[in-house]
Amino acid sequence: MTNELINTIFSRRSIRKYTAEPVGEQDIKTLLEAAMAAPSASNRKPWHFVVVTDRKKLDALADSHPYGKMLFEAPLCIAVCGDPTISQRFWVQDCSAATENLLLAAVALDLGAVWLGAYPSDERVAAIRKVLGVPNNIVPLNLISMGHPAEQKEPRTQYDEERVHREKW
Ligand SMILES: Cc1cc2nc3c(=O)[nH]c(=O)nc-3n(C[C@H](O)[C@H](O)[C@H](O)COP(=O)(O)O)c2cc1C
Repeated sequence: MTNELINTIFSRRSIRKYTAEPVGEQDIKTLLEAAMAAPSASNRKPWHFVVVTDRKKLDALADSHPYGKMLFEAPLCIAVCGDPTISQRFWVQDCSAATENLLLAAVALDLGAVWLGAYPSDERVAAIRKVLGVPNNIVPLNLISMGHPAEQKEPRTQYDEERVHREKW
């Protein structure tokens, strides 16, 4: 497969080790533009993004998430949050689509990232709300831990013929 976007999709892997180099403001803007280019039901765009580069806040987020300890080393975290009052039915899907766009843009920018799930864990949602001052009507869906990669992983497809059904189940 030679297409550049297809290669980017296969190259997206969870990267949990980063160098100390900060992520540039232009890259952060590009990541957010990619996220907000995602499809959303009725184009309601029920998303908000909290960009965190402050070391103390990053450490507090690392403390707040049981499987997010790589944030202690990460120079950047973006919390993807949803507003269910904008889209009660589809905010999770819409914000997930935005998240995947963001992860793919990270690959294209030679950054490394990992999705850290928050919602529907009440505990994680509450802890993140507290650290970031997120209002009660907004739900943190995940934290994206990011930086310049200090580990490499092989591109792969995970293609599984058994999960494919043609014309009927
Ligand atoms: C909803 C969701 C929640 C996740 N939560 C975590 C997490 O808390 N900590 C973590 O290290 N990885 C987390 N991951 C990353 C997965 O572990 C990872 O995507 C999976 O092992 C496949 O590896 P790959 O991303 O390299 O393809 C999460 C991924 C998703 C989609």
